[in-house]
Amino acid sequence: MIDETYAAIFAAAPTASAMAHGRVNLIGEHIDYNGGMVLPTTIGNATHVAVGPSDDSSHAIYSAQYGEAVRRGIDTAFDGHWSDYIAGALAKGAENGLIKNPMRVAVDSSVPGGAGLSSSASVTVAVLKALAEHAGQHVADVDIARWSQQVEHEYIGVPCGIMDQMAVAIASEKQALALETDTLAHTLITLPDDHHFAVLHSGIIRKLDEGRYAERRQECEDAAAALGADSLCQLNEAQVAAIECLPEVQRKRARHAHSEHRRVLAAIGALCAGDMAAFGAQMDASHISMRDDFEITTPEIDAIVEAARQHGAMGARMTGGGFGGCIVACVPVDILEKWKAAMAQDFPATRYIA
Ligand code: GLA
Repeated sequence: MIDETYAAIFAAAPTASAMAHGRVNLIGEHIDYNGGMVLPTTIGNATHVAVGPSDDSSHAIYSAQYGEAVRRGIDTAFDGHWSDYIAGALAKGAENGLIKNPMRVAVDSSVPGGAGLSSSASVTVAVLKALAEHAGQHVADVDIARWSQQVEHEYIGVPCGIMDQMAVAIASEKQALALETDTLAHTLITLPDDHHFAVLHSGIIRKLDEGRYAERRQECEDAAAALGADSLCQLNEAQVAAIECLPEVQRKRARHAHSEHRRVLAAIGALCAGDMAAFGAQMDASHISMRDDFEITTPEIDAIVEAARQHGAMGARMTGGGFGGCIVACVPVDILEKWKAAMAQDFPATRYIA
């Protein structure tokens, strides 16, 4: 399909194409930059990319969502335009020897933006995978993920962790990626057939680059420095005890990061034991920690999460960077349709994503 889109726009056949899913984080929020363990999985929604050589001195980038093609110079300025992610991935591709000349790129995505589902990681990973294919080079998924994270840091200005890019580059549907973010060691865990991790959009759009993400990250770094630790998820016993001595904001951020890491470990244990009630309890506790200690939820999201549980989910939580976006709920498959209908009735502004 993306090949046809490319051909229709550029009147030529692409040389390579690739796709990458969006992701939903099941548990382990805001700890991928604190050396913690995270547990994302992919969703069906995906970004498709086709690439080929350009016949002039600039890149040509088409987005089916924006319905327009734009030109970007090789040394393009990054100013918040939708094509920045693609131009950034092209710049990374050039830096790493995947391309030497200007390219044409066509992108089509069903991953909603601003929803906490990694639409940006999905586009940068898909572009880099397509460029690797175009170059006929095998690039390890971990390298694609790292370069993709560098696009966010260097061109978009979001100091994100590496969870999204790793999830999008490596995980597949029905498998969760247990990822140690300090070493990037990871393992895939099969998700149960009798429960579904339902993703519901709250209707509230968030943007990571509004500064609150960077603010949280800074608060975590300050707390780790005050404790004399490298990261909040790898504290010794004395440092854990000393969390209570920190000034209020640092104390709360440290409490969240430290406890969230432990919840992820417990959740992985529950998942492997097939104990979805125990898994759900960790999701619930994660939401409360994001609400009270990390302070990234909103009253509307809290209400949606609460109702998700009341309507039969084993556990529910906001997912992603916060301040809006989606919730994820662990719902027994045999009540899924009833649960969806009840949520739609209670919250007409919500949208079932996956
Ligand atoms: C965003 C970032 C990730 C991660 C999450 C919060 O999605 O890109 O690196 O920090 O927020 O868990």
